[in-house]
Parts: sequence; C-alpha cells; structure tokens
Amino acid sequence: MPLPSLSKLAEQNPWATNPWFETVAVAQQRAKKRLPSSVYGALIAGAEAGVSMNDNLTAFDELGIRPITAGQSAKRELATTVMGQSLSMPVMISPTGVQAVHPDGEVAVARAAAARGIPMGLSSFASKPLEDVIDANPSTFFQIYWAGDRDSMVARMERAKAAGAVGLILTLDWSFSHGRDWGSPAIPQSIDLQTALAHAPDVARKPAWLLDWVRSGALPDLGVPNFVTPGDRVPGFFEAYGVWMGTPPVTWDDVAWLREEWGGPFMVKGISRADEARRAVDAGATAISVSNHGGNNLDGAPAPIRVLPEVVDAVADQIEVVMDGGIRRGSDVVKAVALGAKAVLIGRAYLWGLAANGQAGVENVLDILRGGIDATMFGLGKESIEDLSPDDIVAPEGFFPPRIG
Ligand SMILES: Cc1cc2nc3c(=O)[nH]c(=O)nc-3n(C[C@H](O)[C@H](O)[C@H](O)COP(=O)(O)O)c2cc1C
Repeated sequence: MPLPSLSKLAEQNPWATNPWFETVAVAQQRAKKRLPSSVYGALIAGAEAGVSMNDNLTAFDELGIRPITAGQSAKRELATTVMGQSLSMPVMISPTGVQAVHPDGEVAVARAAAARGIPMGLSSFASKPLEDVIDANPSTFFQIYWAGDRDSMVARMERAKAAGAVGLILTLDWSFSHGRDWGSPAIPQSIDLQTALAHAPDVARKPAWLLDWVRSGALPDLGVPNFVTPGDRVPGFFEAYGVWMGTPPVTWDDVAWLREEWGGPFMVKGISRADEARRAVDAGATAISVSNHGGNNLDGAPAPIRVLPEVVDAVADQIEVVMDGGIRRGSDVVKAVALGAKAVLIGRAYLWGLAANGQAGVENVLDILRGGIDATMFGLGKESIEDLSPDDIVAPEGFFPPRIG
C-alpha cells in the first residue's frame, strides 16, 4: 500500500498547519474549515439573493489600475487620520456583532488593530464589554443603532464616553430585511445544555474551534453587554434586536439630536446617495461611511465603491468620507482611496482572520492589506496615498450609477 505523502498528512492534520495565510481568501477557507457551519453562516450573512453582497466584491474586480514600470519612489507613505485618530494605513475595523467566532472576540480584534496602528469600531451588538475593548485599543469608536428610547441611548453614549471612546458611529442602513436564499443559520437565544446538545453534531466536527472555547473556560455567549449600562442585566442578542425593531424609525432631527448629545467626532454609516450625504452634514456628522452593511440588508443596494464618487463630490469638502464593503485586498483599498475615500473599513476580512487564528490572524489580515496597498502604490508610482486620484483607476462604462441629488 503506498504511504500518504507528508504534505497530504499535514493537510489532514489541523494541528500541523502553518497558521500564517497569504491572502484573505485563504483565511476565509480556514475559517470555513474551523467554524461550526452555523457560526460560519452567520458571518457570511448577506441578504435574500446575495446580489449586493456579491456586487461589493465583483465591483472591485471590474475596476482596473494603470501601472507604471520605472521611476518609482523607494518609500511609500500610507499613514492618514480619520475623525482625529491616527491610522498607520487607510484601514479601520468596521463594527460587527462577532457572535461566537473566537473566545477573545472583539478584544483580540482590538489588540490586533492597536498592534498595527489602526482604530477599532465596536458594535453595540458585540460580545465583549466596551471597557475591555477600549483598554485593548484606546483608539476605539463605539457604534450604535437608533434603538430603544432616548434615555437608554444617552445612557449607552455616556457609558462609551466615560470608558474613553474617541468617536461615535451611528449605523443607519438597517431595514430589518430577513431571509437568505441559501438559508439562515439557526442561532440559539442563549447557550445552555439543551442548545449545546442540539448543536453538538455540528460543533463536534470542529475540534479546533471547540478546543479554543474549552481552553477559555467559557461557552459562546450570545449576550450583548454594550446595549445596557454596567450593572444592568445583559440582554440576549434577540432581546436587544426586538427593542431595536420596536423603535420608531429615525428622522434627520433625531440624528442631529444624537450628534448633539454625543458632542464629539460622529460618523453616519450606511449612506449611499449625495442627497442623504448632505442631510448627514446638515445634522452635524463629521464623517460618513458609504456602505450597504456588507450586503446584509437591502438586497439590490449598490456596491459602495460604485456610489463613493457621488458622495465624495457632494460632501468631501466639508466632512471626511470613508467607505466599507467588499475590501479583501490592498488594491481594493487603493481603488477606494483613489476614488476619494479617506480610508476604508473592513468587516469580514478581519472576521476570517479572527476565526482562522485569533489576534494573530487579524494581524495577518492587516499585514496582507498593508503589503497589498504598498505593492499597488509601488506599481502606480505613488509616493503617498495623498497622490492617488481617479486617473489611476480604469472603470468600465456604466460602472457608476446615475447620481441622486
Ligand atoms: C457578521 C456581521 C455582523 C455585522 N454587524 C454589524 C453591526 O453590529 N454594526 C454595524 O454597524 N455593522 C455591522 N456589520 C457591517 C459591517 O460593519 C460592514 O459594514 C461590512 O461588514 C463591510 O463589508 P465587508 O464585510 O465586505 O468588509 C456586520 C457585518 C457582518 C458581516
């Protein structure tokens, strides 16, 4: 009988694989292998047919770049600032409800971001208390939704301020669209013995993920501690989601009120039209993230990179414009900056890194992006991200939809 090759054996042995990965796509493959299918499915997310989620990625593939071959600078400057924070490169962590990816969750992400010199965005649906996350990365923006009554929103903001959050992100692009053509993963209300047993077959097939949790001495916790003030009972994800669903829709006057109450750097996330970008400026926003929530919400919403120039033209002379959605490579970051974004936020890219290898996996993802930004800048002959312009990008006809407003 022929013996299996060593490389084949290493492939089959999850404990023997080199934890380093060379692209975000490889991190995603590792995440898929490591995570229970319900956890992986919750990160894929997407909505309905997944048109927007896929367009977020393919739109970047449709954009070309115009390289040069000689006369490049030996050094490239990638550093910038957003909402008064220093960024070692034009990348930030987008807030995500991390669910049960890794026992260290958002604290590991915050540490990785701090180690690489970039700010952290922390979701109000995160699994770790914001005080712990800010300890790990003092450059943290707290994200909230228009959820609950005004007093509870003020209490959440006061808590974030007291802990040292350096800015607020108000996410506005959620319209409670549920359902995916490929099926939504079953997410339990909470993890008790009964649910643990129900999920046992799925979980048992993922020993590396399970071992991480066993070592941490805890079960995945689906509570959302940042939805309340310290000392209050921590609600479960679905309880908090119910409060949010029952909240009357936000108005621009409400946005202005919230901004006033916060009193510091204030980003509105989810804008994709010039007319709304102007409303956000009028409401006092200091930054906008052009976003469609990673394609998780209203399917058919355009990929942010397609509508970025419309928003940049409308308001970038007054406030900072960033974007998020579909960033998987350094060249994607360069394309976004060339089309006018001050920086980008990443979501799934770091979640795949976290799933694949904890804090080191997130650092690995950030290093991939940095290397890719640098290589693309080198190819374009740019010394600084400030020198990037739309002329560096080739967009096919019809790439940008007709402007609104
Ligand atoms: C699993 C998951 C959870 C998310 N949770 C939040 C959230 O709690 N708050 C928020 O503002 N955005 C949330 N988002 C959206 C991200 O902040 C970001 O807009 C999106 O992931 C960007 O697209 P990308 O994943 O292609 O980078 C979530 C996204 C994912 C994939």
